[in-house]
Amino acid sequence: MAESVVVDHVSKHFTMLNARTLKQRVVRARQGGFRNPTFLAVDDASFTIDQGEAVGLMGLNGSGKSTLLKLISGVLRPDRGTVLTRGRIAGLIEVSAGFHPQLSGRENIYLNGAILGMEKDEVDQKFDQIVDFADLERFLDTPVGRYSSGMFARLGFAVAASVDSDIFIIDEVLAVGDPPFKKKCLQRISQVRDEGRTIVFVSHNTTQVKRLCERALVLEGGRLGFDGPVADAVHYLKYDEDDDEDAEGGEI
Ligand SMILES: Nc1ncnc2c1ncn2[C@@H]1O[C@H](COP(=O)(O)OP(=O)(O)OP(=O)(O)O)[C@@H](O)[C@H]1O
Ligand SMILES: [Mg+2]
Repeated sequence: MAESVVVDHVSKHFTMLNARTLKQRVVRARQGGFRNPTFLAVDDASFTIDQGEAVGLMGLNGSGKSTLLKLISGVLRPDRGTVLTRGRIAGLIEVSAGFHPQLSGRENIYLNGAILGMEKDEVDQKFDQIVDFADLERFLDTPVGRYSSGMFARLGFAVAASVDSDIFIIDEVLAVGDPPFKKKCLQRISQVRDEGRTIVFVSHNTTQVKRLCERALVLEGGRLGFDGPVADAVHYLKYDEDDDEDAEGGEI
């Protein structure tokens, strides 16, 4: 099986802005060489994802999932280690990324499509399908800054899902969608999976991860704590102790 994503000993640190202003920095520097502390958001992570695999990326808030997705998609560069990907990557990491609030939904489809690497002709050809999926025809000429968060997610997902990518990454976008839209997205993601494309799916919803993926990675404070079957990942995270969870898992 061909390798699709290879993450090899990857680390990424961020600086904690405890002293934000120049004045604070100067004062603290005088007090003894103060430097903003740094921390590792992703700490020496290594794994390989084969072409056509659907992998869930799980972990508590702040464990480094979105940072790792940004490293895979090339939005961020690792401080140490290497990330290799094969083919075109598309997806949704931050719902509002790649949109301009003052431009209309129509204009933003072209803007976002271009950011995701689509030529104008390709967007022209897929335009109706995108609008239809997002179900936002009535609001196409409204500036997206006036969209609700769910409408934003619909548009973002619809554009991302229209790209013919080899690797599809999705970061918790389904959280703000209403149940019918979530169901539609999950159907679309399983279709992408069935087409043999690679999927990296970030979600706290164990039912959704179980339905879409066979394998899950668990991040703990930036470190890869677990890599294996989803059911074991859920157990590892102790998420299966919450019985009332996941009423909204949705059918695929
Ligand atoms: N650009 C940045 N600058 C500084 N710190 C950052 C930056 N991006 C993320 N972080 C920090 O890195 C850590 C990991 O964040 P990340 O967004 O990857 O977590 P996550 O696992 O996606 O969490 P969530 O489940 O809440 O989405 C957090 O402590 C966060 O504050
Ligand atoms: Mg995140």
